[in-house]
Amino acid sequence: AESNATLPFEETLAKIRSLVPEKLQKPQVGIVCGSGLHTLAAAIRDIVEVPYASLPGFGKSTVPGHKSALAFGLIGPGEGVPVVVMLGRLHPYEGHKLSTVVYPIRVMARLGIKNLIITNAAGALNRDIAVGTIVVIQDHIALPNMTGMNPLLGPPVGPEYPRFLPLSSAYSVGLRRLAFIAAHKLQLGVNALAEGVYAWVSGPTYETPAEGRMLRNAGADVVGMSTIPEVLAGKEEGLEVLVLSLVTNMVVIPNKYRSIRDEVEAELAGKPVARQEEVVVSHEEVLLIGKQKAEVMKSLVEKIVELIAPA
Ligand code: ADE
Repeated sequence: AESNATLPFEETLAKIRSLVPEKLQKPQVGIVCGSGLHTLAAAIRDIVEVPYASLPGFGKSTVPGHKSALAFGLIGPGEGVPVVVMLGRLHPYEGHKLSTVVYPIRVMARLGIKNLIITNAAGALNRDIAVGTIVVIQDHIALPNMTGMNPLLGPPVGPEYPRFLPLSSAYSVGLRRLAFIAAHKLQLGVNALAEGVYAWVSGPTYETPAEGRMLRNAGADVVGMSTIPEVLAGKEEGLEVLVLSLVTNMVVIPNKYRSIRDEVEAELAGKPVARQEEVVVSHEEVLLIGKQKAEVMKSLVEKIVELIAPA
């Protein structure tokens, strides 16, 4: 098992203290930016970016649309709320160990954050949720976690950590309420935000139609390749966790498969054949919607942070 006992917390924290001005060293809120969403940085005042490469224990994000820096700064009016922001996240599919994927979350917890806001790009399994909607996650299904790919496998980080972490209320009701209150204050409209269940898949392949249907039938509303390891580490560290999923594409779940047999039979009988269009999801599409909706995500996160810690 991966050893949590050797995680270099002291070195990482010392490095941060040496690079970040004192007034920014005690963030209250941690934020993780998903694909194409690091423009959230524009909401941060007095920003100081620390490249992951300079931080012991940090991996490098290799995915287009992700930066690799930890940003410190202030969000909101008045003095502002000190925040720490992951500009770019690490995914298991990049080859990072699960302990590396969640290491920044544990570091943010040691910096003193109490609240963790995680954003991501996701595909919609639920046809009632349109592209561009931000889904406030209420629960998850994580097949990898259930089958041996769990970031909490191995010796606990310390003796005070629970061996069996309950996940019956992983998603903070208080923070979910703030998300809807923030959307209301920003007059985003009732359909801007939805609520739903996130299915975590390891990637890097997108789901097949049959897998999409399975996840939908299992009760998931959106599907993505990130976030859940961070949620587990955040919960283990005792944080309040909020997840906001931006829907960047609709997962195609055919009611009926195209029948090659019927097409061939019709063709051979000289009858007209109606061919179905094939739809393919792409990372470019994911990034494009991310870009278009980044502004909304930015104002929403900004407002939620303000509501967490009123000036
Ligand atoms: N991220 C964005 N869209 C996705 C999809 N359809 N499946 C998995 N992860 C995604």
